[in-house]
Amino acid sequence: MQLVYVMDPIEGLLPDKDTTFAFQRAAAARGHENLHALMRDVFVRDGEVFARVRPVEVAPPGSAPPFTLGEPRDVHLADVSAVLIRKDPPFDSEYLYTTLLLERLRGRTLLMNDPRGLRDANEKLYALHFSNFTPRTLVTADKDRILSFMEEVGGAAVIKPLDGAGGAGVLMLSRGDKNNRAILDLQTGEGRRFAMVQEYLPAVRQGDKRVLLLDGRVLGAINRVPRADDLRSNIHAGGRVEPTEVTAEEHAVVAGLAPRLRKDGLLFVGLDFIGGRLTEINVTSPTGIQELSRHCGRDVAAEVIEWIEKRAGELDPQLRSIPPSAS
Ligand SMILES: Nc1ncnc2c1ncn2[C@@H]1O[C@H](COP(=O)(O)OP(=O)(O)O)[C@@H](O)[C@H]1O
Ligand SMILES: [Mg+2]
Repeated sequence: MQLVYVMDPIEGLLPDKDTTFAFQRAAAARGHENLHALMRDVFVRDGEVFARVRPVEVAPPGSAPPFTLGEPRDVHLADVSAVLIRKDPPFDSEYLYTTLLLERLRGRTLLMNDPRGLRDANEKLYALHFSNFTPRTLVTADKDRILSFMEEVGGAAVIKPLDGAGGAGVLMLSRGDKNNRAILDLQTGEGRRFAMVQEYLPAVRQGDKRVLLLDGRVLGAINRVPRADDLRSNIHAGGRVEPTEVTAEEHAVVAGLAPRLRKDGLLFVGLDFIGGRLTEINVTSPTGIQELSRHCGRDVAAEVIEWIEKRAGELDPQLRSIPPSAS
């Protein structure tokens, strides 16, 4: 297979942490070709989607250099087996346009994840579809409303920007804290921008569980325990990774989400759970597969590539050459 990855500049990635690297290593080991593209390498000519790609050779973990890029060439994306959209947030206008261009490939090549799903599923707001599984949550730009919500949920709450990732901008509001109003001014741009506020879940001290899903099924989970001096459990913010299992309660949440995720073409997804409550649904470029593989002793990235082989093989080859209809 040829696999195209639309992603960030490869130089910035951590070889022993990044999930895209793990996919590329597993794909190469199974005899496939990995092709790297930035968002700006995608182009459309007369309705057909192409990308200027460079083959990537990924070295085994620990070796240097971690990867080498080959000579650039143009590929017709409907002819490759899969396009993996693995660009990290922010979700800006270039990201939006990229989803609109790649969307033309639906049904002609495997898209992981589906560009329309990526566009619709803001990582923070998508969880609102499943509010029976989430902590109590408010989305508003109104500062006084946030303060009364904080009181209502027990005097402690977490406030997050709608476009954040890796723990960026996630702050704590607590009754009596003289920083509260300043935090609200910053987070809402003095009442002009939406923020998400959730009841504070004390169980976060035991960790924030990342459950990775493939096509609505559980691949496995890792627990991320925050530093003693931080609210945030993200690996990026210094969270410590430990092995964990998926509880029956969390499996029930996954079963509740799976039909919607499938409908939205969100194939590779990372759910965040604190104390059994769903706090976030990561869809743009969920990570954690390297840590999961190390803790569970399986090559989880290889399982994903194997699944792509099967699913890409089911696409009708006739469709690849037919441009999408006007309907
Ligand atoms: N409702 C909450 N209660 C307690 N801690 C929370 C809550 N929501 C988030 N956190 C903490 O903040 C971190 C980042 O929050 P999250 O919503 O997952 O955003 P991000 O996209 O930045 O990962 C979590 O890993 C967790 O440690
Ligand atoms: Mg998170």
